[in-house]
Amino acid sequence: MPQENPGPPAETPEPLLRVRDLTVAFTQRHRRDQVAVDHLDLDIPQGSTVGLVGESGSGKSVTSLAVLGLLPRRGVRLTGSIRFGGRELLGLSPADLRTIRGKDIAMVFQDPMTCLNPVLTIGTQVTEVLHRHQKLPRGSARERAADLLDQVGIPDPARRLGEYPHQLSGGMRQRALIAIALACRPRLLIADEPTTALDVTIQAQILALLRDLVTDTGTTLLLITHDLGIVAGTCDTVHVMYSGRIVESAPRGPLFADPAHPYTAGLLSSVPRLDAPRGTRLVPVPGSPTDTLPWDNACAFAPRCTRADALCTDRAPHERTEGPRTLRCHHPLSDPAPDPAPDRAPVLAPGPVPPTATGGPNLLPEDVA
Ligand SMILES: Nc1ncnc2c1ncn2[C@@H]1O[C@H](COP(=O)(O)OP(=O)(O)OP(=O)(O)O)[C@@H](O)[C@H]1O
Ligand SMILES: [Mg+2]
Repeated sequence: MPQENPGPPAETPEPLLRVRDLTVAFTQRHRRDQVAVDHLDLDIPQGSTVGLVGESGSGKSVTSLAVLGLLPRRGVRLTGSIRFGGRELLGLSPADLRTIRGKDIAMVFQDPMTCLNPVLTIGTQVTEVLHRHQKLPRGSARERAADLLDQVGIPDPARRLGEYPHQLSGGMRQRALIAIALACRPRLLIADEPTTALDVTIQAQILALLRDLVTDTGTTLLLITHDLGIVAGTCDTVHVMYSGRIVESAPRGPLFADPAHPYTAGLLSSVPRLDAPRGTRLVPVPGSPTDTLPWDNACAFAPRCTRADALCTDRAPHERTEGPRTLRCHHPLSDPAPDPAPDRAPVLAPGPVPPTATGGPNLLPEDVA
């Protein structure tokens, strides 16, 4: 009997968002280009909750603005590929991007007061999105807007629809912004520091709300923050970004339990942890985020890294993958696999090892399990 042809091996489906070799540089006459995002690769699978973490200036917001097509056209050099749902976004017309924004990809920004229009009622701002993208008539748009406010936990939604942003508290304004973002049931929600402007209690409520909403609606979430504690309780996968590139990516369990990149370990040891023994000292990452080297021929983190040696200031580390973890480091804390393309033998200089994970605000053992 003839053997059945098994056919080509099944391919893994393309992730909802697939960023390849993305570079964003701000150009100015008579000055060197400022590279904010540097040959970045990022995959966000459908239905996942992904954290993008890094210190100030690492390029997190510029990455999200590039995805949304919100970077200015002048003075910006943008190369690479951003595919969303299999469609290339770079090069789309502003009109096409406007259709995708709000409907397919929505964003929640850090400061709700500057994102909401102060002279329009909350109702007008929520219904505008529904009217524009879903062509809902005024009456049903108002009803749906009240449902949305209710869904994000704003009490007495019918009354709140008639109020202006200044009549709402900070937490409620952020909830209203989340309601606007979710109005058209976007496939991808990008939340850029959504809780930074809020006090810790409201912060916890907003994170719980985001978590519930993405679970209930199946929305894919990209959560951008400088705070590892925030991703610990919210995200399945965490990408750590330094100077425009991702230096370590892993599911949150391995990342928090066993950080491999000295920068990830440094970020973890600089924030408190609830299960850490009493008296555990917090250790800041030495130097400042501006102490970097160009990625072209060095590790950008080398000037701040306690494990750095001549190799690190001489050659950029290649990205390597072991299981679900990818890493860009010559001397990781737990070496997952040899560098796939060493130009020369690595010069290992152990040096003092930065302390490994001791924390993250509100990190509980179950958060990193
Ligand atoms: N419009 C601009 N013109 C010039 N440089 C810019 C512009 N926007 C951002 N940058 C630079 O790009 C780099 C990355 O900025 P980005 O806002 O993405 O950082 P971030 O990781 O979001 O930081 P934060 O945590 O402070 O929000 C920074 O060095 C910043 O100064
Ligand atoms: Mg930012």
